[in-house]
Amino acid sequence: AGLADAFKDDFFVGAAISTDTLMQDDQQLLGLIDREFSSVTAENCQKWEEIHPAENQWNWEASDKFIEFGTQHNKHILGHTLVWHSQIPASVFTGDEGLPITAKALLGRMENHINTLVDRYRGKVNTWDVVNEVVSDNGYGSWRKSPWFNILGKDFMEHAFRTAAAADPNAELLYNDYNMHYPAKRGFLTGVLADYLDRGVPINGVGFQAHYSLEDPELDEIEKSIETYAEMGLKLHFTELDVDVLPKAFDYMGAEISTNFEYSEKLNPYPDELPAMVQEKLAERYAKLFALFVKHRDVIERVTTWGVTDAHSWKNDWPVKGRQNYPLLFDREAKPKAAYHAIRRLKQT
Ligand code: G3I
Repeated sequence: AGLADAFKDDFFVGAAISTDTLMQDDQQLLGLIDREFSSVTAENCQKWEEIHPAENQWNWEASDKFIEFGTQHNKHILGHTLVWHSQIPASVFTGDEGLPITAKALLGRMENHINTLVDRYRGKVNTWDVVNEVVSDNGYGSWRKSPWFNILGKDFMEHAFRTAAAADPNAELLYNDYNMHYPAKRGFLTGVLADYLDRGVPINGVGFQAHYSLEDPELDEIEKSIETYAEMGLKLHFTELDVDVLPKAFDYMGAEISTNFEYSEKLNPYPDELPAMVQEKLAERYAKLFALFVKHRDVIERVTTWGVTDAHSWKNDWPVKGRQNYPLLFDREAKPKAAYHAIRRLKQT
């Protein structure tokens, strides 16, 4: 019995699946995912740039494999992600003959994208990340000045939710973001979401990406965030959980990728393996997080880790090539880590 089984009375426990895993039909990893997890998210293959790289071009292969795996193994399936400013071709925001696109034409493209994707997987995808990361990283209290916002104004987000709900009235629809516990960001987002709930804009919940580190954020900040969003009547998903064990290189989320980093031992302190002491810290951190999630199981529907083994985490090779991180529950050989056992112990009486 795997992790998901241990928490089956609490919430779904999920993992993101990489495009490589799907395309290579990696049976070892897919078997592990099937045994341990009850929910799956496509890490990259449903992003606009990958699945819909040009107006009339759709790459369905990896995404179809993902849906097929999830359906065959009876997983709670996540669609990720419909409307985001990142990983989207610039051509989406360009009009005919290179002229600025009109708002009407851009709305048409958004609708076409959402309708095509949601319709194809209607009745299969349980939950969609409909809109991702709309808050400015500058002060966290205003709309991100993305092309979506600049061309359509703030209503682009509402429009995305209405379009997705019309395309699949039974799918659960989420707003997904990082650092949602920051007071300014929490204030901004609860304002937007309260207005949506007031006016009946179809949204069911929020996704906390939860790219955490050993110390940040503190548990009580996370708990406060859980309580604040849950009190509004929103369902909560932890959508991209991982725990960075390395020294903070810089405040990377939303920042430009700096080219100024050079490989150094300071940036890559554990090139071969994670020392036992840090393993233990990671285990403690994961155990405390899961204990908090269990405490709030009435409002938390799912906890998904952003990947499966440390070998494939997006946290590796960044900001310099060769940097080894250890943020997940399975090591580079796909063996369960101390963190995995610490979580399992929570459910052993
Ligand atoms: O697959 C190509 C490969 O063919 C090519 O040779 C190689 C060269 O760069 O790139 C490969 O694609 C990369 C892909 O990851 C797969 O490894 C992309 O360049 C790279 O941009 C992409 O990064 C992903 C990132 O989102 C950007 O989309 C990460 O894997 C993925 O974990 C990360 O996930 C995001 C969530 O979607 C949203 N929240 C934040 C989270 C972390 O950034």
